[in-house]
Amino acid sequence: MSEPRVYGSSEMTYNDYLKVPELLSLQQRQSEPPHHDEMLFIIIHQAYELWFKLVIHELDCAMAHMQKGEALRARHFIHRCVEVFKVLVPQIHILETMQPVEFLQFRDRLAPASGFQSMQFREVEFMSGLKEPRYLQFFKNRPDLQAILQARLEGPDLRSRYYDLLRSFGFDLPEGASDMERSGDEAVCEKILTALIPVYRDPQANLPLYLLTESLVELDQYLGLWREHHVRVVERVIGFKKGTGGSSGVDYLRATTTKKSFPLVWEVRTRLSL
Ligand code: HEM
Repeated sequence: MSEPRVYGSSEMTYNDYLKVPELLSLQQRQSEPPHHDEMLFIIIHQAYELWFKLVIHELDCAMAHMQKGEALRARHFIHRCVEVFKVLVPQIHILETMQPVEFLQFRDRLAPASGFQSMQFREVEFMSGLKEPRYLQFFKNRPDLQAILQARLEGPDLRSRYYDLLRSFGFDLPEGASDMERSGDEAVCEKILTALIPVYRDPQANLPLYLLTESLVELDQYLGLWREHHVRVVERVIGFKKGTGGSSGVDYLRATTTKKSFPLVWEVRTRLSL
């Protein structure tokens, strides 16, 4: 039998490359004695954070392609994020195997830590165009993380890049359309809708743009679905108790489920006629 071919450095191993021992040393339960279910609680959050890291990586790449006018290449990376979210949405339900009374046995240990402090989740929101400076307050004790978020708040986002792309394709939109939309400028919103309607009326004639636009809507949809599934799990586990981050809990979270990064691209469907 011939020797298996060795690729790359013969020193490299699976565990070295992936840093598995380091990764597996990071699940440290805080409860005393260690509560069985705290392991699930830590691992599921860490798994989400890892996937958020990938989503941020891909969104940066998608924005760079949009800036170069490469609609289909941008769509490729948005589509990957959508596929990641398709995994992230159902995953949250694993937590329903945790009995409410068991969560109570270690919940106090983690307060006041909260999902409000997930910098990467907020980064994904800011990168999508959902920019709400009020969330920066949850990073007061971490100026390094706050600075990253501040930069995302001030920098380009998917929506601004998308509108710039439309402009570069000859659509009649003002520079800074995304910011104007955010500030409620109705005339600009009408202009954006007028630009988008032909893309939806004749997708074949604008196929790369149509495919990119739909992938952005799909990402919006899956982020919304994540919120809906998260709040249902929260209600099942803690009912209407207040959140460890100080919010009203389920009522706050329900109010976030209607957030949209691309409200006008959703609106087009209502306006569309033959
Ligand atoms: C038993 C499980 C969970 C409970 C009871 C729970 C509860 C809550 C509550 C009450 C909030 C509102 C903020 C607050 O006052 O603390 C919140 C926010 C949040 N949670 Fe969870 N959560 C759970 C699991 C998860 C998981 C697995 C993730 C994964 C990353 C997550 C991510 C977040 C994020 C990102 C927010 C901020 C949402 C926003 O502001 O729109 N949560 N959670």
